[in-house]
Amino acid sequence: MKPPEKPTTESSAPAAKLWGGRFDEGTDAFVEAFTASVTFDQRLYRQDIAGSKAHAQMLRQVGVLSSDDIQKINTGLDKIEADISAGKFQWSVAREDVHMNIEAALTEHIGDAGKRLHTGRSRNDQVATDIRLYMRDACDLCAAEATRLMQALLQLADKYHDTIMPGFTHLQTAQPVTFGHHLLAWFEMLLRDLDRLNDTRRRLNQMPLGAAALAGTSYPIDRNITKELLGFDGVCENSLDAVSDRDFAIEFCSTAATCLMHLSRMSEELVLWTSAQFNFVRLPDRFCTGSSIMPQKKNPDVPELVRGKTGRTNGNLIALLTLMKGQPLAYNKDNQEDKEPLFDSVDTLLGCLRAFADMVPAIEANEPSMREAASRGFSTATDLADYLVRKGLAFRDAHEVVGFAVRHGLEHNCDLSDMSLNILKQFSNKIEKDVFEVLTLEGSVNARNHIGGTAPEQVKLAIERASARLATTYQTSA
Ligand code: ARG
Repeated sequence: MKPPEKPTTESSAPAAKLWGGRFDEGTDAFVEAFTASVTFDQRLYRQDIAGSKAHAQMLRQVGVLSSDDIQKINTGLDKIEADISAGKFQWSVAREDVHMNIEAALTEHIGDAGKRLHTGRSRNDQVATDIRLYMRDACDLCAAEATRLMQALLQLADKYHDTIMPGFTHLQTAQPVTFGHHLLAWFEMLLRDLDRLNDTRRRLNQMPLGAAALAGTSYPIDRNITKELLGFDGVCENSLDAVSDRDFAIEFCSTAATCLMHLSRMSEELVLWTSAQFNFVRLPDRFCTGSSIMPQKKNPDVPELVRGKTGRTNGNLIALLTLMKGQPLAYNKDNQEDKEPLFDSVDTLLGCLRAFADMVPAIEANEPSMREAASRGFSTATDLADYLVRKGLAFRDAHEVVGFAVRHGLEHNCDLSDMSLNILKQFSNKIEKDVFEVLTLEGSVNARNHIGGTAPEQVKLAIERASARLATTYQTSA
């Protein structure tokens, strides 16, 4: 094995740094690269520029900067933003991060006015502001995709509101349910995720700017001006907390991990259901891939990959919790490590929601196969017990009677509904002709006719309520 390459120790001159004044020698070249964040925090450039413009505007209103400075700063920042968007901006690792890259380029473009932009500000309150602005947009994008997915689920639930499938507990056939009802269970999980996204966004929309390095600033700043310009709901009340806490990032990662856990459960069901053994649903070819060796294979790659991505979002959450747990107040360089896990959770959640929102409308149920599976496994046994209770038996006695009937069915390889009235009467003389109404699959699902129940009529009503609930929940996030 080759020994690791010796890092280069050539250093850049101290004066090249925006903070170089008190340093005798330049930064070690490896340390420069090791401590830089520009390779991953450059995605904050829009937020950084918006924050700088608002800060500069506020400084002018309180008389710290001149109108001439402001004009130059705005023009310079506009040019830089256009260059970055067009891929023409030269990012430099020696300039460490997105903030100093933009500030240094600004001074190159407009001269001394650029040097005055950082008055009354620190990278500590700057970065905290940038991330919150970024997360606000990230929450909105995720909320929009989650909503698109939920709308698709409601349409599919409507299409299959009376399609009968087996419901499972312990992955053993339990009772018949409607496919629409099953899809509405997925909807409920996601609606809570959307609500969690809204909550995360609401709590993070507080402005750190003005906290400066940690203690505030001696300039006569007006934080309300900046807050209004940037669309924050309020200002962070404590400067030490404002620059140091990243609980909003943890909260987003937790929301993302929870939502991915839900998407992963749905994925697991789709993977099972598309197998030849279940054969409950078909996914169109465009969401599947083949095998390079087995010509017959059509693999449900999209759900499998979403299930696999849960590892990332769980990992990112633990990474951030661990990152924060030992930090004394206020800002520490540790915090630079918040970005990669956070951005990865944003990308993963957004990508998985998008994949599902595109795929769900294309799911096709194999209704005969679902029905056939529901009619196996004595799925109406509880209905027979309930029938006997209505005829006067205590539930425990009814349970035992049906147990005997099921054993008979197992021995003779037939379902309860296949047994003749005479056979059924051997288990209880309370059983009469009307028993066959409850032993059918339709009889079973139609009987569960209350809010939250699986009856097709209830599924229809639940879809109406769900679509109204989605409309109010999504509105509050925008
Ligand atoms: N790149 C830094 C970060 O992401 C910006 C803040 C640096 N502040 C400092 N005092 N070194 O956290």
